[in-house]
Amino acid sequence: MNNPESSDRGSWGSKIAFIFAASGSAIGLGSIWRFPLFVGLNGGAAFVFSYLLAVFFIGFTVMLAELTIGRHTRKNPVGAFNFIKPHTPWKLVGYMGVVTGVFILSYYSIIAGWAAGYFYKTITGAFRGQVSWNNSAAIFTKFAANPLEVLICLFIIIGLTSYVISKGVKGGIERWSKILMPVLFVLIIILAVRAVTLPGAGPGLSFYLKPDFSDFNLKVILFAIGQAFFSLSLGMGTMMTYGSYISKKDNLVSSAGWVCLSTTLIAILAGIIIFPTLFNTLQLTPDKFKQEFEVSTGLMFQVFPIIISKMPGGYFFGILFFALLLIAALTSTISMLEVPTAYLVDERKWSRTKAATLIGIVSFLLGIPSALSSGGVKFLTKFNYMIKMDLVFGNIMLAVGGLLISLFLVHTWKVKNALKEISHGNSRFWLKGLWVFDIKFLVPIAVIIILIFIKTLAG
Ligand code: PHE
Repeated sequence: MNNPESSDRGSWGSKIAFIFAASGSAIGLGSIWRFPLFVGLNGGAAFVFSYLLAVFFIGFTVMLAELTIGRHTRKNPVGAFNFIKPHTPWKLVGYMGVVTGVFILSYYSIIAGWAAGYFYKTITGAFRGQVSWNNSAAIFTKFAANPLEVLICLFIIIGLTSYVISKGVKGGIERWSKILMPVLFVLIIILAVRAVTLPGAGPGLSFYLKPDFSDFNLKVILFAIGQAFFSLSLGMGTMMTYGSYISKKDNLVSSAGWVCLSTTLIAILAGIIIFPTLFNTLQLTPDKFKQEFEVSTGLMFQVFPIIISKMPGGYFFGILFFALLLIAALTSTISMLEVPTAYLVDERKWSRTKAATLIGIVSFLLGIPSALSSGGVKFLTKFNYMIKMDLVFGNIMLAVGGLLISLFLVHTWKVKNALKEISHGNSRFWLKGLWVFDIKFLVPIAVIIILIFIKTLAG
């Protein structure tokens, strides 16, 4: 067994650097594109409320578990399981994370690519002048269905991601996150202020933030839990890998808390930007929302050009928004690629550049069917290929991963060992009782319920 302390595989420069990088991973299309879409499709404020509970009770719990295993072992997910319990099938959970990461990267990069395409379109003035609803929908449909444009965007996203990852932990991820994350926060706050000061923001805000108890049902809760896993980058070992670069001196509990808080904040702000504008500018109702978006992933891309065209300073705000979306997406794709890269570097002794390039190529190839499933190729579009990928890898596999990580921690590694690791850098863990209860009971039960009712999620 190798000594985890002796490896020179890189580490974060400081606790803040970790928080920036991990928030960069967590905050992304999950909060800005997926969250508002799911809110709209799942009962508005009821979903928001369920999501907040899911983040607090389940997300935070699994995040702390991943960070703890990661820092203790100082390894990628495959190596981490193998380190604590050598030569057992547990390392398959690590492999599952590596594979899930590559698949999520493959379809996530398409949407990131759309953001890149729209950033370009906005700069070149495609949304200047009055853009109507039909107009905007037509622009999106045409763009998403154009194989060449979408594939070029996919190539750019995966290329940039591989480039940053090949530069390593400090020079790559940390350096970029430190610049990009604060910019993102500032941008999103400006846009939220702009949205709530648009005339008549009321009805949108109340759909978004005033829960109606008749809207709560199993599906809403299941999707909210799935969204908590996805938005916090949990269940595939991303946080385990990022945790492996944290110093023993740093407080894992507050680090996890900050990442959960910043991610939730951005998601809530994203909704504050979208809903008032959506309901008022377009006179949209919840039913109409469902009709428009049930089988479409285009919410963000159909709504924003209209807002841009109707807003004073819209050209400027439009560029800001798509820049923001792109930045957020890139700091997340980087973290997805980091998991398989860390595996190949640690376990197979590959160079970072070779690992990042190869996985980049594989993800690009795997992304092609997703790229063609928004109009490019008929049968893939009809099959809803990309949405199915998101359901399987973005919802189910992450939840299963979270379940297995919790079971591993509780039954194989043991809670007392985890608590000992957590105590480094943190003498007083005031949520200890709750965390132990959640990791032992709440997380497994919640995920098992998800798996039992999987049909509800799919249907
Ligand atoms: N959390 C990221 C987002 O919300 C997506 C992600 C999922 C990243 C899983 C890494 C691992 O955009």
